[in-house]
Amino acid sequence: MAESMSVILLLLVLTSYKMSCLHAQDLPILMPHYYEKSCPCAFPIIRNEMHLALLKDPRMAASLLRLQFHDCFVQGCDASLLLDDTPTLRGEKTANANINSARGFDVIDLIKTKLESECPGVVSCADIITIAARDAVLLSGGPYWEVSLGRKDSSTASFNDANNNIPTPNSNLQTLITSFQKQGLSTVDMVALLGGHTIGNARCQNIRPRIYNNSASMAFSEPHLSMVKAACPPSGNDNGVWPLDFPTPILFDNSYYINLVRGLGLLNSDQTLYSEGSETKEIVESYAHDPLGFWKQFSESMVKMSNIVDPLTFVTGEVRKNCRTVNDPL
Ligand code: HEM
Repeated sequence: MAESMSVILLLLVLTSYKMSCLHAQDLPILMPHYYEKSCPCAFPIIRNEMHLALLKDPRMAASLLRLQFHDCFVQGCDASLLLDDTPTLRGEKTANANINSARGFDVIDLIKTKLESECPGVVSCADIITIAARDAVLLSGGPYWEVSLGRKDSSTASFNDANNNIPTPNSNLQTLITSFQKQGLSTVDMVALLGGHTIGNARCQNIRPRIYNNSASMAFSEPHLSMVKAACPPSGNDNGVWPLDFPTPILFDNSYYINLVRGLGLLNSDQTLYSEGSETKEIVESYAHDPLGFWKQFSESMVKMSNIVDPLTFVTGEVRKNCRTVNDPL
């Protein structure tokens, strides 16, 4: 009896905590200097590992940046994306947006191993993603922003939310806007964050609907289009890739927006920012002319996205020893 009373009490406390913590100003506080005493070498370790990873594979910057987006849109930024499937947990790695697509898990493992040997049990996997994504952009020639830290890792993941919350490349503009709004992100945040597509690649299965079925708003020159079509024939080679921002896919510049103005967006969801809505069109035009304006907003919006945290995770979460698994699996 006493035990069930205390469970009820705990639930009540958690529920009221959750209800009262829905506003950004009430969220548990993340701090830039969170690891200053407990793991002073966290930043240099992560920067160094990112540097080594990019020397081996420059595309890894893009892959790590994308991990942050896919993590934060599902249950908040809690490293739920990193959990492997187990008999009792269906993870997010096999959801539509991630399967055969999300990369960089090995780099996170390397970083985690280094951090665990320096300061065991201190730096959360969710914070590792956040710092690695920032460093990925910086090392690709992009802006620097200060990250706030102290996130906890979840003990759960959501395959369904990964399928429902991460927009698809063939969603229309309103659907894209709504999916960002649901995370507390504005249309400006969305257009700036999509500038992340200035680095990295997309697979043929995602490119095909744009290059074969949407030729009306297609402005690729004949030689350019032939190259993309050669890489991505009408069928087969689903996992072949082409740069999202041709021809500077490892440089964090503003050419993504310049391409959109020219009708050269690689995904339907990219080009639609320019072709479908007047507000988003204006923002695209402004970033095409003002690279520093893009960097400033991108940095602000990355901070906003990385601060999507579920307050409950601060109570129920942990610092995983291994980012792929919860500390005490059933
Ligand atoms: C409207 C929302 C978005 C849609 C529909 C979308 C869609 C996609 C798709 C389809 C790919 C290619 C995946 C593949 O073919 O394997 C991709 C790649 C990528 N996305 Fe997005 N994305 C969105 C927002 C974002 C945001 C907010 C960021 C980061 C701030 C981001 C960063 C990236 C990066 C860097 C890549 C390249 C990854 C790599 O090369 O490994 N995306 N995105």
